[in-house]
Amino acid sequence: MAAMYRPDPANPAARRPRLAVILLVAFFALQLLVFLAFRGAPSPGAPGSAVAHVPESPGRGGDDSGCAGGLVYVYDLPPVFNEDLLSMCDKLAPQYSLCPYLANDGLGFPAKGANLSEFLLPAELVGSWYSSDQFALEHIVHRRLLSHRCRTADPGRATAFFVPFYAGLAVGRHLWAANATDADRDRDCVALLSWLHAQPYYKRSHGWDHFIALGRIRGDFRRSPDGGWGGSFLLMPGLANTTRLVIERDPWDAMDVGIPYPTSFHPRTAAGVRAWQQYALSRPRPTLFAFAGAPRSAIKGDFRALLLEECQAAGEGCGALDCGEGKCIKQNELVMQLFLGARFCLQPRGDSFTRRSLFDCMVAGAVPVLFWRRSAYRQYGWYVPVGNDHEGEWSVFIDRDELRARNVSIRGVLGAIPEAKVQQMRKRVVEMIPNLVYSAAGKEGLGDGMKDAVDVMIDGMLRRVAEQRRSWRL
Ligand SMILES: *[C@@H]1O[C@H](CO)[C@@H](O)[C@H](O)[C@H]1NC(C)=O
Ligand SMILES: *[C@@H]1O[C@H](CO)[C@@H](O)[C@H](O)[C@H]1NC(C)=O
Ligand SMILES: *[C@@H]1O[C@H](CO)[C@@H](O)[C@H](O)[C@H]1NC(C)=O
Ligand SMILES: *[C@@H]1O[C@H](CO)[C@@H](O)[C@H](O)[C@H]1NC(C)=O
Repeated sequence: MAAMYRPDPANPAARRPRLAVILLVAFFALQLLVFLAFRGAPSPGAPGSAVAHVPESPGRGGDDSGCAGGLVYVYDLPPVFNEDLLSMCDKLAPQYSLCPYLANDGLGFPAKGANLSEFLLPAELVGSWYSSDQFALEHIVHRRLLSHRCRTADPGRATAFFVPFYAGLAVGRHLWAANATDADRDRDCVALLSWLHAQPYYKRSHGWDHFIALGRIRGDFRRSPDGGWGGSFLLMPGLANTTRLVIERDPWDAMDVGIPYPTSFHPRTAAGVRAWQQYALSRPRPTLFAFAGAPRSAIKGDFRALLLEECQAAGEGCGALDCGEGKCIKQNELVMQLFLGARFCLQPRGDSFTRRSLFDCMVAGAVPVLFWRRSAYRQYGWYVPVGNDHEGEWSVFIDRDELRARNVSIRGVLGAIPEAKVQQMRKRVVEMIPNLVYSAAGKEGLGDGMKDAVDVMIDGMLRRVAEQRRSWRL
C-alpha cells in the first residue's frame, strides 16, 4: 500500500457553518432516500442495466449464448508480463511472500480456521472461503476472463480486448527496494506498451476498446513528475486510450474505473450466494457499529485514532479489531465475524481513500459508514448505486469535519436511525453482494442469471466501448 498521506484537495475543511441547516437537509434527504428505497426505484448507472449497443459481430449462438452484448478477447502476452511475475511470488512484496495468496488461481489458500466452521454450515458454501489478497486481483480477473463464457479466442469476433499485464505485481517488487530507480519501476510498463502498440487490433481502435485490471491503488501508478513514490504507468501517454479497471481510481481521470477489492468469499453457484445472503440477513446483530483497522500513529490528528476512541467510548455498542501485521487478511474470518455481528461498519480512509474493508463489510451484510466521498461514491459506480438519490439506500455518510468540530458522536448519529430503516439498508446491501464478489465459478458462471464482479465488469466494458466508439471512428 502507498505509504503516503495526501490531503484531499476536493474536501477542504471549509464546510463548518450552518450545521443545523445541513443536518436538517440531510435528515429530509435521508427520509426521501428511504422512501425511494422502499419503492425500489431503479438506479440508472447500476449494474444490470441494459447494454444499449448492438455490436458489429454479435456473439450469438453456440457456446457464447447469453453474450449478446459482445465478446471479450484475452491477449496471450509474453510470460514476462504475467506468468513470470507469479513465479517470483516470494520476491514481490517486502513484508511477506505473496506465494500463498497467488495460489489457487489467485484466490489464495482455502480458509479453514476453526472460527470459519460456522460459515461453512450451509452445504452450498463449502470451498467458498479463501485467504485472498488484493494484490492477487490481476491474476483473479485474468483467470476468470479466460474461462468466461463470453470470451472468444478469435479477435475478429471480439468487442472488447483484455490486456492481462500484472502491472501491480510488476511495480510492487520495486516499490520498497532502496536501490530501485524510476526506470526500474517503469521498465515492464514501457515494454508492455511497445508490444501492445504493435498489435493489429490495438492499431485498429488506437486502444479505445482495450482494458486492463490493476490490483494496486492509484498512487502506486502515478508518480509525480518530481519523482517520489510509485511507477508512472497510468500517466504514460501510451496508455491514454486504454480503460483501467483499478481498485482505487483517480476521480479526475475518466479512463479509470473503480472495481471491487477481492474479498475472501469466492462462491461457485447462485445457490451458494443465496445461502450466504440468507445467513447474513438472519444473523443477530448485537453491535451497533464496528471498525477493523489500525491507527496510524505517525499521522498527526489521525482520523482513525479518533474513531477508535469513539469505539471505546461506545462500550458494547462498538467492536474493534486491530489489523496490524496483515492479521485482517491472514485471519479474515475474524473480520467477517466482527462485521457479521454489527449493523454498521466504519470505513474511514487509511493510507489511501479506499479500503478492502468496505467490501468485507458489505459481504458481511453490514451497512458501510463513509467519511470521504472518494472512498466509494466516486469509485465504484459500476457496482454500487451512486448519485445523490441512491447513496443513502445502502450507506451512511458522516461529514468528518462536523464530527470533529461539533459535539456529534458516531454512536449518536447511527443510534438515531430507526430500526426499520437500518433493516431496509441492510437488505439493500445484501442484495448487492453477488456483484461485489469474484466468483470461483467456471464457464457457466454463478448461474440463474446472477452476475459476479467480473460479469458486471464485462457488461460495463461493452457499454463503454459502444460509448467510446466515436473517439476512434469519426
Ligand atoms: C477464533 O476467534 C478468536 C476471537 O474471536 C481468536 O482469539 C482465535 O484465535 C480464533 N481462532 C482461530 C483458530 O483463528
Ligand atoms: C538492488 O539490491 C539487491 C540486493 O539488495 C540486488 O539483488 C539487486 O540486483 C539490486 N538492484 C539493482 C537494480 O541494482
Ligand atoms: C489515442 O486515440 C487517438 C485517436 O482517438 C489517437 O490519435 C492517439 O494516437 C491514440 N493514442 C494512443 C497511445 O494509442
Ligand atoms: C457533548 O454532549 C454530551 C452528551 O451528548 C454532553 O454530556 C457533553 O457535556 C457535551 N460536551 C460539550 C463540550 O458540549
